[in-house]
Amino acid sequence: MEQESIYGEYRETLNNAMEYIMNAINATREDIKETKGLDPIEHCLARIKSEESMREKCRRKGLPETTESALEKIHDAIGIRVVCTFVSDVYAIKDLLVHLPDCEIVKEKDYIRHAKPNGYRSYHLILKYKQKIYAEIQLRTISMDTWAALEHQLKYKQNIGGNLKLIEEELKRCADELASTDISMQTIRDMIYEERSETA
Ligand code: GTP
Ligand code: MG
Repeated sequence: MEQESIYGEYRETLNNAMEYIMNAINATREDIKETKGLDPIEHCLARIKSEESMREKCRRKGLPETTESALEKIHDAIGIRVVCTFVSDVYAIKDLLVHLPDCEIVKEKDYIRHAKPNGYRSYHLILKYKQKIYAEIQLRTISMDTWAALEHQLKYKQNIGGNLKLIEEELKRCADELASTDISMQTIRDMIYEERSETA
C-alpha cells in the first residue's frame, strides 16, 4: 500500500509559497539587470524536500513522521539557494527578502561576516510565509558555492584517518582564499561599474 505524503494536504501550499518567493527573487533580478546592466544572480535553485529526506530528517531529530513535524518543527521543507554574482548582490537580494510582504523572518545568520570555524560562508534566512509555511534560503557567491559543494562531498568520505586535521586546515585555507578573491572581484566590479556610470 502506498504511504500517504508526509506533507498531507499542504503539498500545493508548499508549491505556492515556493513560487511566491521565487517570483519575488526573479522580479528583483530583472529590476537590477535593467537598472544596473548587471545580472546579480548566477543561478538559483528551489526544491521541496523529498518525501524520503523529510522522513529521514524527522527520524534523525527524534520527531514523529507527521505533517506537523514536516511543516512546523522542521523549517526547510522549502529550500531555495541563490548563487549570486558578487558579494554585494547577496546583500541586495537579502534586503529584498527581509522586506517581502506576507513573510516574516524567523531566523537570520550571516555566515559571510561570521564564517563558520570550518570556513563555510553563506547568508541564511528562514522565512515564514503567511504565518504557516517555512522556507530556508541560502544566499552565496559562486566562490562560496564552489567551496560548499566540494566540502559537502568530502564530508561524507570515510576513513580519512590521520590526515583529517591537515585536510580541515587546507579546506579552511581554501575558503579564506576564495573569500579574499570575492573581495577582489567586488573591487573590480565596482571599478568597472563606476567607470560606466561616469561615461553614461
Ligand atoms: P539543520 O542543518 O537543518 O539542522 O539546521 P542548522 O540550524 O544546523 O542550520 P545551519 O544554518 O547550520 O545549516 C543549514 C544548511 O546550510 C545545511 O543543511 C547545509 O545545506 C548548509 N550548511 C551549513 N553549514 C555547512 C557546512 O559547513 N558545509 C556545507 N557544505 N554546507 C553547510
Ligand atoms: Mg546544520
